[in-house]
Amino acid sequence: MNSAPGVTFSRRLAWMTEENAMAHAEAKRRASGLPILDLTLSNPTAAELPYPTDALAQAFANPAIADYQPSPRGLVQARQLVAGDYARRGAVVPAENIVLTASSSESYALLFKLLGNPGQTVLVPEPSYPLFDYLTALEGLVPRTYRLAFDGHWHVDFASLDFTDVAVLVVVSPNNPTGSYLGAGDCDRLAELVAAHGVAIIADEVFADFPIAPAPDAVTAIAKRELPSLTFSLGGLSKASGLPQMKLGWIAATGPQSLVGQALGNLDLVADSYLSVGTPVQVALPKLLDIGGTLRAAIHARVLRNRKALAARIGKDSPCTLLPAEAGWSAIVRVPEIMSDEAWALHLLGDHGVLVQPGYFFDLDMGATLVVSLLVPPAVFDQGIEILLAATEKG
Ligand SMILES: Cc1ncc(COP(=O)(O)O)c(C=O)c1O
Repeated sequence: MNSAPGVTFSRRLAWMTEENAMAHAEAKRRASGLPILDLTLSNPTAAELPYPTDALAQAFANPAIADYQPSPRGLVQARQLVAGDYARRGAVVPAENIVLTASSSESYALLFKLLGNPGQTVLVPEPSYPLFDYLTALEGLVPRTYRLAFDGHWHVDFASLDFTDVAVLVVVSPNNPTGSYLGAGDCDRLAELVAAHGVAIIADEVFADFPIAPAPDAVTAIAKRELPSLTFSLGGLSKASGLPQMKLGWIAATGPQSLVGQALGNLDLVADSYLSVGTPVQVALPKLLDIGGTLRAAIHARVLRNRKALAARIGKDSPCTLLPAEAGWSAIVRVPEIMSDEAWALHLLGDHGVLVQPGYFFDLDMGATLVVSLLVPPAVFDQGIEILLAATEKG
């Protein structure tokens, strides 16, 4: 039999990425049927939260879901509701400055297409969450990191910013997993630099609604500030409303009026090529935002409860330290440096059945650190943390 002819795949991704040691160990443990205390849970729908399933179904019981009115920015009624959500957060953003998308990841994709030429660079923070390698590569762009430095508080290391051939600068505020908001001073300085280099800022604020201990100068919504740079804030139902399954995100464009106008006109062309936001979710949005408010409160209470339990359990005599956080769903625990973070994570999973993420997943470079999710149901969280800390205390 003839073998099938070959096919050439794009060079955007390496495609056959090797499974890392943690993924391999997790797959092995799951296949063996042994229990896992999962401290990495990030899906709120799997976190024993009170989802009002009837009310969710009711939200879509509306004949308007049968109409189709294609519009690149999304239905005006839905955009007005998003403008209302910015008002709830203290920012004035007109509905015409809002573009609806299917998710924050898609918001990045549309903005990267708007702003970057193939091969150009996107400045992304380090440490931060690992998706940027993919999101940039899929648009033919290249990530370059700038550092966030920690001295008890996280801030931008301006010396690490290299603007050579940069298309756009990304800030994540609050950042995942450091839980740090961009400070007002850093924000203004970044905006001036970015404007001077003729590029824009993307501010990912998906965790902004989950404050833990914000610094007094924390920028909780970048749209509140009058900045010299073209700025795109990202938000959506996925985190702030605990509704990732609805697939609705948004971009809010702010900054100098003429730049915003140009950007929105061009973004219309990009969004019009896909029109990926479904009508049902836009029609259901008034009710989804209501339900989301209740879910947000439940998630926030969960995160605060788990953080408090973790801080209390670590106490003063532990060899571990809990890094401070201003906001978000994650906690970073520094563990004794007798082995690497990956070795700790493999040991905890293999010998104790506790699944955590090693800090290197997020390019955390500060000794041995483990990242745990504060979204985990309390019973599992407490049990997992107890085992983790007991293991580190034993050495
Ligand atoms: C900082 C940050 N931004 C964006 C996303 C993706 O959000 P979405 O589900 O809206 O694509 C995540 C997901 O974990 C995230 O951590």
